[in-house]
Amino acid sequence: MLRLENISLTVNNNGESKDILNNINISFVPGKLYGITGPNGGGKTSIAKTIMGIFKPNTGSIYLNEEDISDLDVAERAKKGIAYAFQQPPRFKGLTVEDLLKIARPDIETMEMRKTIRDVGLCPEDYLARDLGPGLSGGEMKRIEIAQVLTRNAEISIFDEPEAGVDLWTIQRLIFAIMQNFKTRPDATAIIITHNENVLPLCDEIIVVEDGEISAIGKPDEVWSLIREEIECQRRNECRGEMLNEIQ
Ligand SMILES: Nc1ncnc2c1ncn2[C@@H]1O[C@H](COP(=O)(O)OP(=O)(O)OP(=O)(O)O)[C@@H](O)[C@H]1O
Ligand SMILES: [Mg+2]
Repeated sequence: MLRLENISLTVNNNGESKDILNNINISFVPGKLYGITGPNGGGKTSIAKTIMGIFKPNTGSIYLNEEDISDLDVAERAKKGIAYAFQQPPRFKGLTVEDLLKIARPDIETMEMRKTIRDVGLCPEDYLARDLGPGLSGGEMKRIEIAQVLTRNAEISIFDEPEAGVDLWTIQRLIFAIMQNFKTRPDATAIIITHNENVLPLCDEIIVVEDGEISAIGKPDEVWSLIREEIECQRRNECRGEMLNEIQ
């Protein structure tokens, strides 16, 4: 189980400090698929980066199976079984797709590597030898990043907007690959950060993050109706504002 306790995060931006996360408490239970959603800039990626150890919180602690991992760095947390697919995957010029998958799991067999690449909708013959430099498109890079996390078979896998930049024909396939990987490993936890309304209903729990805080958490049908209400209310207010502007 992964547990975030009283996590608050402030970053320094050009000498100015900015509060990003405020007293976040979440428990991620094994065998569950979590969906994190919320407005742009709400703090979703910051939560993922704090779990990974990329961001160091000002207060609070992170526990993995009751072990306090708050002081561990990114590499140590990765070794403990936390994997993260970046919203904007980094590029590694000079490294091939095959190298990346072998770093993710050194003992991976060629057949499995090829299957994983196919699972994310790419042809292994064309892609395993490709360089991870700027020659790959954004969507290709995103799929390879997801393949890398699937290869890890980590205890905790976090996918930051797996659908971002991926074509409509492939999104379902990617989500299916993530679900398949997760369902074969009952002790695993998958966390998908997403804005996709087709993905959220597939999750066991939805967490809504707004203004650095958790504004709702619960089963998809409960949380989904709250989100819809809020969006509808916002739309009505915007329409009312426009009408008032026209009258004035
Ligand atoms: N290194 C940083 N320096 C300054 N501000 C930052 C930094 N990292 C994140 N922020 C700010 O923190 C807030 C939360 O960012 P975050 O990336 O976590 O949002 P998000 O919920 O993932 O949004 P999106 O849906 O757009 O991906 C934003 O206002 C962002 O500008
Ligand atoms: Mg984000």
